[in-house]
Amino acid sequence: MLRRLAHHQPEGFAFTPANQAWAEAQITKYPEGRQASAVIPLLWRAQEQEGWLSKPAIEYVADMLGMPRIRVLEVATFYFMFQLHPVGAVANIQICGTTSCMICGAEDLIEVCKRKIAAKPHTLSADGKFSWEEVECLGACANAPMAQIGKDYFEDLTPERLEWLLDELSAGRVPVPGPQNGRYSSEPLGGLTSLKDHDSGRTQYNASVQAAVDIGDSVKRIDGTEVPLIVSWLKKAADAAPVEAEGVQPAALAAPRDGTGDDLKIIEGIGPALEKLCHSLGIFHYDQIAAWSPAEVAWMDGNLKGFKGRVTRDKWVAQAKLIGEVGIPEFLERAKTNDY
Ligand code: FES
Repeated sequence: MLRRLAHHQPEGFAFTPANQAWAEAQITKYPEGRQASAVIPLLWRAQEQEGWLSKPAIEYVADMLGMPRIRVLEVATFYFMFQLHPVGAVANIQICGTTSCMICGAEDLIEVCKRKIAAKPHTLSADGKFSWEEVECLGACANAPMAQIGKDYFEDLTPERLEWLLDELSAGRVPVPGPQNGRYSSEPLGGLTSLKDHDSGRTQYNASVQAAVDIGDSVKRIDGTEVPLIVSWLKKAADAAPVEAEGVQPAALAAPRDGTGDDLKIIEGIGPALEKLCHSLGIFHYDQIAAWSPAEVAWMDGNLKGFKGRVTRDKWVAQAKLIGEVGIPEFLERAKTNDY
């Protein structure tokens, strides 16, 4: 399928303040120079906010990450999960059309979409509230046929039930997701045949449905204020921030002995950002690293902000010792096979 940007594009794009903060926090997950790794999370958040990815949104993300816009466009057009055309203001209905769902009636669900939404996929309904598309297996085959609507799965569907769901959503109500035929989860249609004891202690909904019910709106656009959805990562980042590392700080030099210092980047695992960090801690020479005691390694491992544990993981001390013993050309040969 040819994936092109929509003909009609909005004037511009900007993250909401909360989404902007979230996006900036995401970028900090990656080492200096690797910010482009955040491209998919940022594009995804832009889509969660707007429902689809416009050209201005793609360009906004590219500018935020310092990436050529064409590179971000390549990502957005490659992955089918990115919507390049406006979707329904209420929801984009994604009908699974793969084997289990097809055998169990997905084509009838698609007929409902054609009749109630639009004759063709990726087209807005007359009232602009809905759009639909057929997607590949969404991994809920035991509850076929099914559809993803917003962030949730609606399973064990019939055409009548799908029509009802659309009417509910259109009226501003958010139906409970999960199996729509009374099943609890994906147990046999005729009821449990084993582990029946577990049946008595079950809650009203299965865990996925309960989580959706707790959030309370499975089709809501994400503006970044959904605290339960983002707090865990932000808290993790805060928890990880200023930890006083154990160990002993290695002796620091005020400046390199020869004015320039060694090229620390020769050590496998040290890039420009880590070299800069080492310099800021007064480490400029291979022999300094080679002389670190286990306590000094522990201190360095705990104080390399954003690179914790790298000294041990990448065996800096062994590498630095080897450079001292055999010289750089021989070291580089042996580094090809991690022989240090
Ligand atoms: S075939 Fe539809 S969810 Fe797997």
